[in-house]
Amino acid sequence: MTKIAVVEGDGIGREVIPEAEKILRFFLPDAEFVRVELGFDQWKKTGSACSKESMKTLKEMDAILFGAVTTPPDPEYKSILLQIRHELDLYANIRPVKSESVDLVIVRENTEGLYSGIEEIGEERSTTLRVVTRDCSRRIAEKACSISIQRNQNKPLVIGHKANVLKSDILFRDICIAVAETQNLSIRSMFIDALCLDVLLHPDRYDVIVTTNMFGDILSDTCGYLTGGLGMLPSANIGKNHALFEPVHGSAPDIAGRGIANPIAAIRSAAMLLEHLGVQDAAEKIEAAVQQTLALGIVTPDLGGNASTRDVGENIFAKISGN
Ligand code: NAI
Ligand code: MG
Repeated sequence: MTKIAVVEGDGIGREVIPEAEKILRFFLPDAEFVRVELGFDQWKKTGSACSKESMKTLKEMDAILFGAVTTPPDPEYKSILLQIRHELDLYANIRPVKSESVDLVIVRENTEGLYSGIEEIGEERSTTLRVVTRDCSRRIAEKACSISIQRNQNKPLVIGHKANVLKSDILFRDICIAVAETQNLSIRSMFIDALCLDVLLHPDRYDVIVTTNMFGDILSDTCGYLTGGLGMLPSANIGKNHALFEPVHGSAPDIAGRGIANPIAAIRSAAMLLEHLGVQDAAEKIEAAVQQTLALGIVTPDLGGNASTRDVGENIFAKISGN
């Protein structure tokens, strides 16, 4: 039996995930859904953001639907999502950016780079180690190449880096180029800062962009500009044995508890989960329902409307289920 973990997490995660879960249950009527409590709220309640039990449960699942977690400014607090990505070795963070005029995918290395977690806080000097290894670069490059081949858009694979300044990115860039060559893919090597501007000016030039951890994090929020904001962007965190699907956005404490968060990023993340499990046509049906709901102007305030999270979720669900 297919087992799905549902993690609402904190803040608006609790509001958007129920809308996505309803759609998952519709397409997976026989799956077992397991609720897992983790995040900052859980830390406040129990002193642990994610218990050993919960981590074990996550590892036993076929897929995880994840909302968002709050990371408080306390320097002693380690991001639980980073820990999950490390423990489950979710090495590829795949972030599609899609709207009428844009259709690209950011493939972000998800286990090392500036988020290696190797850091030291000091009075006079603090350091964070930026780790780039041959193996992790190679596997993310291979993932990006296979997505590029599958999409078959006849556009070069773009490598985003800062090899002019960061020696660690020379290794990353060169491995990406070497892997692309073995696949006969054309590539375009770009400095990440110039890339951030160019993708906003000429999004049609882009198909697959592969980059390191923090650059991919920043680039994907930047690309939110092309699609109506963070409330629209889904993502997949994929490893060899595990897969976690989550909106790109965080727990949004500024709007949490008001029922106005945009659930589309979470719903699109559920669509990616269903695609990953090989559920035929689900992703297309969900995207069609999202498009119809947008066209009707049933949208949350971030998109200029006055619909609630539930209004949007129910509308999309009704179109999918034919009710
Ligand atoms: P954020 O993504 O939570 O919010 C940024 C801005 O976008 C806010 O103004 C928010 O209201 C808006 N926004 C985000 N999602 C939205 C949605 N679905 N509908 C409407 N508006 C939306 O990022 P921020 O403010 O930097 O971080 C807040 C908390 O979330 C922090 O504790 C941070 O550590 C955490 N975070 C967690 C992530 C995760 O769990 N994957 C990712 C990013 C941040
Ligand atoms: Mg981010």
